[in-house]
Amino acid sequence: MKEISIVGLGYVGLTFAVSAASRGFRVIGVEVDEHKRRSISEGVSPIYEEGLEPMLREAISKGMLRVTESYGEAVEGSGITFICVGTPSREDGSVDLSQVIESSSRIGEALRNKDGYHLVVVRSTIPPGTTIEVVKKILEERSGKRVGEELGLCFNPEFLREGRAMKDTLNPDRLIIGAYDEKSGKTLLEFYRRFYRDRMPKTLLTNPVNAELIKYANNAFLAMKISYANMVSRICEKLPGADVEVVMDGIGMDKRIERTFLGAGLGWGGSCFPKDTIGFLKFAENLGVDLKLVKASIEINEEQLEHAIELADALIGGLRGKIISVLGLAFKPGTDDVRGSRAIKLVKKLLERGASVKVHDPRAMGKARKILGDDVEYAGSVEECIRGSDLCILATEWPEYRKIRAGDLSKLMRNPAILDCRRLYDPEEFRDVRFAAIGLGLDLWTSEMKRHRERKSTDLVEM
Ligand code: UGA
Repeated sequence: MKEISIVGLGYVGLTFAVSAASRGFRVIGVEVDEHKRRSISEGVSPIYEEGLEPMLREAISKGMLRVTESYGEAVEGSGITFICVGTPSREDGSVDLSQVIESSSRIGEALRNKDGYHLVVVRSTIPPGTTIEVVKKILEERSGKRVGEELGLCFNPEFLREGRAMKDTLNPDRLIIGAYDEKSGKTLLEFYRRFYRDRMPKTLLTNPVNAELIKYANNAFLAMKISYANMVSRICEKLPGADVEVVMDGIGMDKRIERTFLGAGLGWGGSCFPKDTIGFLKFAENLGVDLKLVKASIEINEEQLEHAIELADALIGGLRGKIISVLGLAFKPGTDDVRGSRAIKLVKKLLERGASVKVHDPRAMGKARKILGDDVEYAGSVEECIRGSDLCILATEWPEYRKIRAGDLSKLMRNPAILDCRRLYDPEEFRDVRFAAIGLGLDLWTSEMKRHRERKSTDLVEM
């Protein structure tokens, strides 16, 4: 099947659409937002994602991707429809399925008039059971057809990381396919074999409920790994000579654990981990299951932010009336996305504590301004941001912030002090200014400490 349709052109849908177009599929994208439709049709990406825009321009100019608001056109012109709409959290943390319900209804209606087999694939993150209990039911009701006969249905979670979305879509670690029946599974597998050709990723073929659980359990596990590192970082801060980075290097050398997602810092943010951990917790609660580890991970994550504020307070002796420069506002480097950004939350807390805040981010200033408004000062450069301030807080580890040296702080700041909340800096380099970092033991410069630091994990590996 060389024609596919994708409903919802957000992060997941748009990167998937552009990637599929680059692999020779004709893609019809359905998007309700008129502004997004127009922008994408002109080859301008509404989101920043490395490598996306040039590929989008090419897909549009070659006619491999077209955008519409018509479900009829999309369903009629394709053999597979992927649902990539948003599933945000409600006030109480449970998942708002309204966009999944709406798109399934509209796809179902469009399928009523279509002859031949059609496969519907859900890619949005949804609570286990939703594919069969909600999507299947709606599709059958609206189309008058039966899933397992004229219709196919799969749940196929995505594992892309923002900032690496194109790479992750074009080269994923694995594929998880939760198929309602054999034919649905085979049809989706055939699509992916054409997509990946000789680079077909490892694939797990299972039923929809397992695939739905895999997505939730996967994100909750990664969030738990980060919270674990943050938990250990709190002990490190109490022990002279201890450094969470070195401890995690050591733990990460165990193949059973692995070093990734053990980065201690301000905690996890973004549009997925916060929403999915809470969603998983609520879902389990309704089944009478207490997900204690997930609950603890969320608690640690929340405390971490407050803890960073306390570190800042201790480092400069109070926050009220101080000028604080915050470097980085995106929820992580490589994106302009500020949804669930820990840095933005940190800024709000600093303001609550009576500090004046100056901010900088290489990409996310526009989106941050919509949230922070006139409450902060927006700096056009790093130098401008730190000039005249009493404390610099590194909140998002953009690589360009690595260039800052202690000399820059001494020259530009009113009182040179830096708090590294993402472990970007080598403490050695900042020994002449006030320096603190998440997960770094106190009394950093005792001679015993120096000996410890000199024996880094990398040296030990070589020994
Ligand atoms: C996450 C998952 O990594 C993807 O596999 C998944 O597909 C996606 O959610 C989703 O469900 O759609 P993403 O939210 O883009 O991807 O970002 P991550 O790279 O996972 O980072 C999430 C947060 O954790 C960020 O705030 C980041 O700063 C933080 N983090 C990450 C740490 O604090 N420490 C680390 O070691 C790693």
